[in-house]
Amino acid sequence: MAYRAALLKEKILSRIKEVFSAAQIQKRIAEMGAQVTADFRDLESPVVIGVMKGAVFFLADLVRNIECRNPLQIEFVRLSSYGGGKESSGEVHTPYLELPNIRHRHILIVEDIIDSGRTARFFKEYLKDQFDPASLRLAAFLDKPSRRVVPVVADYVGFTIEDFFAVGYGLDYAEKYRELPYLGEMVDGEG
Ligand code: IMP
Ligand code: MG
Repeated sequence: MAYRAALLKEKILSRIKEVFSAAQIQKRIAEMGAQVTADFRDLESPVVIGVMKGAVFFLADLVRNIECRNPLQIEFVRLSSYGGGKESSGEVHTPYLELPNIRHRHILIVEDIIDSGRTARFFKEYLKDQFDPASLRLAAFLDKPSRRVVPVVADYVGFTIEDFFAVGYGLDYAEKYRELPYLGEMVDGEG
């Protein structure tokens, strides 16, 4: 605990500025859960698919704020478009794309952030081709519309942000800082 506290303090002081606190995030996710509930409450066998790694934290909190008549099935894929730094490679890689047969089901994709839109666009098209879903919706914790390269609109957005590099609450800079309970902005390039 002492280590963790020291780590968090050091990160805040040196290079990460808090943008949304853990409490603000939880409040917003409760609201999103209510929105999703309104659309999914009565649907048959809904499936929630999280895009690893970034969306793991958001998904865990979001699903605990959804109240459906039927149980949720939760799946994960791993997609990546970043080369490790702050710029997208422009290509979507699919390190893990195993899914059970979810043909004709009601699907909710859960993403950490929509940036260029390439990842979300790729995955929506993939799911449509493979599984012909009964419905397909997208929830994103963050949306950076000013960076869009391909048009994608999320059905549920936690926070719309300016063009800054976000870390924490699942989002990484070179695989670091995902575990921060708040959302921060990287204020310099040194990770
Ligand atoms: P897109 O395909 O360009 O929309 O990028 C989506 C992916 O890029 C996200 O799932 C993140 O992994 C990563 N990404 C985009 N912007 C940020 C950011 O500000 N911080 C951390 N990761 C980001
Ligand atoms: Mg990343």
